Amino acid sequence: MAKVDKDSLANTFLIAVFLCLVCSIVVSSLSVSLKPMQQLNKELDQKKNILRAAGMLPADQNVSEDGRSIEELFAEFTVRAVDLRTGEYVDDVDVTNYDPIRAASDAAISVALTPQEDIATLRRRENVSLVYLKATPSGIEKVVLPVRGYGLWGTLYGYLALDGDLNTIAGLGFYQHKETPGLGGEVDNSKWKASWQGVRLFNDMGQPQVRLVKQRSVASNPVADYEVDALSGATFTTKGVENMVNYWTGDGGFGAYLKRLRSNALAQG
Ligand SMILES: Cc1cc2nc3c(=O)[nH]c(=O)nc-3n(C[C@H](O)[C@H](O)[C@H](O)COP(=O)(O)O)c2cc1C
Repeated sequence: MAKVDKDSLANTFLIAVFLCLVCSIVVSSLSVSLKPMQQLNKELDQKKNILRAAGMLPADQNVSEDGRSIEELFAEFTVRAVDLRTGEYVDDVDVTNYDPIRAASDAAISVALTPQEDIATLRRRENVSLVYLKATPSGIEKVVLPVRGYGLWGTLYGYLALDGDLNTIAGLGFYQHKETPGLGGEVDNSKWKASWQGVRLFNDMGQPQVRLVKQRSVASNPVADYEVDALSGATFTTKGVENMVNYWTGDGGFGAYLKRLRSNALAQG
């Protein structure tokens, strides 16, 4: 029998191809088997962000102050799909799999915004979005809205939480942005985020009025209720966040829904 030359070019090539094949099978099966876990982690992360915006989960903690887990806390929320054009709930949307951001890039289920409408620089807005509601028999406690808007380097994605009066901010947090650490990236600073709590949203005409300012007005001035400290050295990010909040709580965003919710609450109360 002819002896195989282990050092031959053909043998080296064969071994290299075999190794590549084995490695690609291992990598692909790992990727397939880890997919459900990745999905679960993504969902858990989203729940964490919603709970943090609502002030129900301390930053950098995975349990509440009274020891409740993310799943336990999130179970207090009902997720609903809302038609932003009418403010009505939509029941034929699978809220667990619906992605409002992806919907915004589909021309069939979103709308192109005119430059006048597009203060948050979104270009398109989905027709249907999601809301996260925490309610008790006596009424709504918190409403969390998914929000996004352009800063300096890209779009900031986050959640805005409102208190039960639907006119006071309970919290704001971002889960993705491209702003510069130390400048626009200070949107993640816990002290700055805490400064959003208690800020009022709407004036007597029902228009969102939030202003990010370099110098806050004196407390006795009624406009002080709508003011948040601007981020120093980050005028573009600051303006982007202000526009984002006013866009999503205004008529182009969840305005119709919030008005409807408020009048329902008044009717019930
Ligand atoms: C490297 C670099 C990164 C910057 N990152 C940001 C940023 O993330 N957000 C922002 O608003 N401005 C950022 N700026 C600053 C802007 O270019 C601009 O100077 C600033 O927004 C003006 O803010 P001021 O009026 O508060 O000084 C950055 C500037 C440089 C040079």
